[in-house]
Amino acid sequence: MAQMLDKIKERLQGLKGLTSALARPRHVLGVDIGSYAVKVVLMAAEKGIPMLKAWGYLPLGLGPEASAEERKARATDVLRAFIAENGIGLKESATSLSGNSVIVRYVKFPRLAPSEIAAVLATEAEPFIPFDINEVQLGFHVLGEAMEEGQKKTELVLVAAKKELVSARLEILQNAGLNPAIIDVDSFALENVYEKRRGPATPGGAILCLNIGHSVTNFSVMENGVTRVVRDIFISGGTLTKAVMKALQVDAAKAEELKRAHGLVLDAAQTEQALKAGSHEILGVSQALAAVIKDLVAELRRSVDFYLSQGSERTIGQVLLSGGTAKLPHLAEHLSVELKVPVSIVDPFAFLQRPPADLPAAMAPAFAVAAGLALRRYGD
Ligand SMILES: Nc1ncnc2c1ncn2[C@@H]1O[C@H](COP(=O)(O)OP(=O)(O)OP(=O)(O)O)[C@@H](O)[C@H]1O
Ligand SMILES: [Mg+2]
Repeated sequence: MAQMLDKIKERLQGLKGLTSALARPRHVLGVDIGSYAVKVVLMAAEKGIPMLKAWGYLPLGLGPEASAEERKARATDVLRAFIAENGIGLKESATSLSGNSVIVRYVKFPRLAPSEIAAVLATEAEPFIPFDINEVQLGFHVLGEAMEEGQKKTELVLVAAKKELVSARLEILQNAGLNPAIIDVDSFALENVYEKRRGPATPGGAILCLNIGHSVTNFSVMENGVTRVVRDIFISGGTLTKAVMKALQVDAAKAEELKRAHGLVLDAAQTEQALKAGSHEILGVSQALAAVIKDLVAELRRSVDFYLSQGSERTIGQVLLSGGTAKLPHLAEHLSVELKVPVSIVDPFAFLQRPPADLPAAMAPAFAVAAGLALRRYGD
């Protein structure tokens, strides 16, 4: 087992998003392994028309106290069961990473041919990586050439993921009977989905993508379809649930229910309405949520300001929300007011000619990363 993992890890070295050097399979199963749920997406083209063939939202049903081993075992179990129940024969799979064991850096190296980069990667990358270089798996993607101090440089995006995390993910896929073909970064997987949305109507300015899940909010900025900034913020759905638990003295299941039912109360009129209805619970919930969202907005502003300060031409034209928390009632409106840009919630399946009939619309945004992974074979 360990030997096999080493082999795979070797193969993963050196390509975009820690990806294998093997020829890309025609289809891949998109598997997004989150801290709250595993999301699975299978797409295939029928007579050239892309179709959603299978999907699964597989909650882990674990509390914050669950150990890494428990999470791994549960993710493997739900994934294996899903594959068996749906008779999925495709083994090739794509998954992605984010969180504090993954670092994405935009760097300039001395000008090199792509084939030469792999050889110097570890040495050149070391100053940019806050982890021990021996403990990380490196990947890169060449963005283009740039001039710096009169010298031609190769501009690239560097990804470093702790080996521990990479092998844990590979083991989940393998133990579920899958063959890991692509390992990506959550925010990069979104590119594929957003590429499908782009059209002549795209407003000016960059797109700010917020994938708000359970443990982490993936913040990224996309310019003309290419991600230019990636950052993870550790304020997310789980933080909201915890705040409701504390404020209302309820357990996690009840807090989850209250959070989804009430969300944020936006304005004075809505507050008054809630008071009239005698619903102090609504106000308690939304106050607890609002305090967390305030912290999130402060973090978002800081990151947006930093992005804008790096170039005089830079503007943010719109915000796209995805992840399970995107559906928090009134969140999109609230963020739009706070950030002063239009905010929309992404349906990663909107591009399909035949929308999936059995997938509840409210769940769609949670599939953005998994759908992006499943689309890997189209884009690259
Ligand atoms: N309608 C809803 N309103 C508010 N929150 C919701 C709603 N539906 C789901 N959520 C929240 O979304 C989160 C799960 O989303 P998602 O599946 O994107 O997370 P994840 O990918 O497992 O987490 P992560 O990537 O952060 O590890 C949970 O915190 C859940 O409470
Ligand atoms: Mg997630």
